[in-house]
Amino acid sequence: MSALLEMRNISKTFPGVKALENVNLEVHSGEIHAIVGENGAGKSTLMKVLSGVYPKGEYGGQIFFDGQEREFRNIRDSEKLGIIIIHQELALVPLLSIAENMFLGNEPAKGGVIHWPETFSRTRALLKKVGLNEAPATLVTNIGVGKQQLVEIAKALAKQVRLLILDEPTASLNESDSEALLNLLLEFKAQGITSILISHKLNEISKVADRITVLRDGSTVETMDCHKETISEDRIIKNMVGRAMEDRYPARVPNIGEEIFSIEDWQVFHEFHAGRRVIKGVNVNVRRGEIVGIAGLMGSGRTELAMSVFGRSYGRNISGRVKLDGREIDVSTVEKAVKNGLAYVTEDRKHYGLVLDDTIKNNITLASLGQISRRGVIDEVREIGVANDYRKKLNIRSPNVFQKTVNLSGGNQQKVVLSKWLFSNPKILILDEPTRGIDVGAKYEIYTIMNSLANEGRGVLVISSEMPELLGICDRIYVMNEGAIVGEMLAKDGSQENIMRAIMRAGAAA
Ligand SMILES: Nc1ncnc2c1ncn2[C@@H]1O[C@H](COP(=O)(O)OP(=O)(O)OP(=O)(O)O)[C@@H](O)[C@H]1O
Ligand SMILES: [Mg+2]
Repeated sequence: MSALLEMRNISKTFPGVKALENVNLEVHSGEIHAIVGENGAGKSTLMKVLSGVYPKGEYGGQIFFDGQEREFRNIRDSEKLGIIIIHQELALVPLLSIAENMFLGNEPAKGGVIHWPETFSRTRALLKKVGLNEAPATLVTNIGVGKQQLVEIAKALAKQVRLLILDEPTASLNESDSEALLNLLLEFKAQGITSILISHKLNEISKVADRITVLRDGSTVETMDCHKETISEDRIIKNMVGRAMEDRYPARVPNIGEEIFSIEDWQVFHEFHAGRRVIKGVNVNVRRGEIVGIAGLMGSGRTELAMSVFGRSYGRNISGRVKLDGREIDVSTVEKAVKNGLAYVTEDRKHYGLVLDDTIKNNITLASLGQISRRGVIDEVREIGVANDYRKKLNIRSPNVFQKTVNLSGGNQQKVVLSKWLFSNPKILILDEPTRGIDVGAKYEIYTIMNSLANEGRGVLVISSEMPELLGICDRIYVMNEGAIVGEMLAKDGSQENIMRAIMRAGAAA
């Protein structure tokens, strides 16, 4: 196979950060090339260099595409050659329709007027190619993340793609949507489209990649050929983190006591459709020292449950009781929920979790200013100490705690959100997809923290779409479907099949 793309000695620095140092990457025509590496290793930055987000002059090294050296000044330049990037954070406009998003800035027009029939019929054809069964007029906000991802890909197809770059496309997708997306990549490959896939889900990589390049600390470690030899996940991990990892989950010896937390008869109605019941009489409890999981498919109501409990951040006409140590507590606002011992680590860090324009330090202490203040004045030295502590403990990659979080890699942003809530010293910690976009090594660190929180006698409630993760870290698991609890099992008796069966059974009964 010939090289479609060659990146030679690519270097890129940000103030105080050497993000890439002499990185080499060669992508063959027609292959699926995976790029893996820890959070902050430089994967997204490398792809931004490739696609012209960082133009010539802002990086060192050379890019060859189709055998010719290229110097892109912007994204349009790389798109003209068919290099299309789908970024880690989706870029669709929520309040526009699928069709409008599809041709934004590129609308089929006649005499300066958008030609809607053509826009719609072309959209329909593209949606068909990616297997998405939605009307072109549907607003993007009304479809789930999985489908939005497919719209992004359909949009790439509209542009005559030759090299499709997907930066963690399945991070927020459930198993079946992920599988569909990977199959789509394989289909594209059959049609001769080359892709670059960045993912922290190593099982997916093993499934579709022809070759795998590992980045570590801004440098290329190795490119492995999956057709020449079998590449085990352990080998990939070793390359990524620089050492072998014996286990994915830390050993856990639970010490479970009496019930400390419960949500009782919880009912929530939809924020906009007053008649739609989103949470239907849910009962959930957590005992001292216990890690409890909530499994379910995307859209099963798990996030709505957590958010409605956490200061009514979601929903209306909420009814039911929340109890801590047997006494009902007031969780009617976020302030009250926090004061009464709850913390909630959101799945949507961009919207709810972080003040992007502020520093790591300020984000970490934001929910607990009382702890670092004396007579209402913030003790800056203490604050810096606390932030540094968490930076070390969770291995947040940044030169110091004064970096704005907007400049952190996706995984490192998540670690800041987690630090913020750990520092609030909660009695009950609710985690919503806590390891989304987090590398294997850092996942282990997060599991270890969950374990020690539980061992300190706190309760941990964790929502995750990754069933192996729930089975690996929880003591007990609830299964949720369509806003109701439809199953409950001890993790040691559980399996992915058991969880799926509970969901299916509930689906069939309804
Ligand atoms: N605009 C920026 N300003 C300053 N530093 C940046 C900027 N963008 C990225 N960095 C830094 O460059 C390094 C590489 O980041 P990058 O986003 O490429 O990592 P990544 O491998 O994609 O990680 P993840 O798996 O978490 O997405 C990180 O240390 C990050 O903090
Ligand atoms: Mg990234």
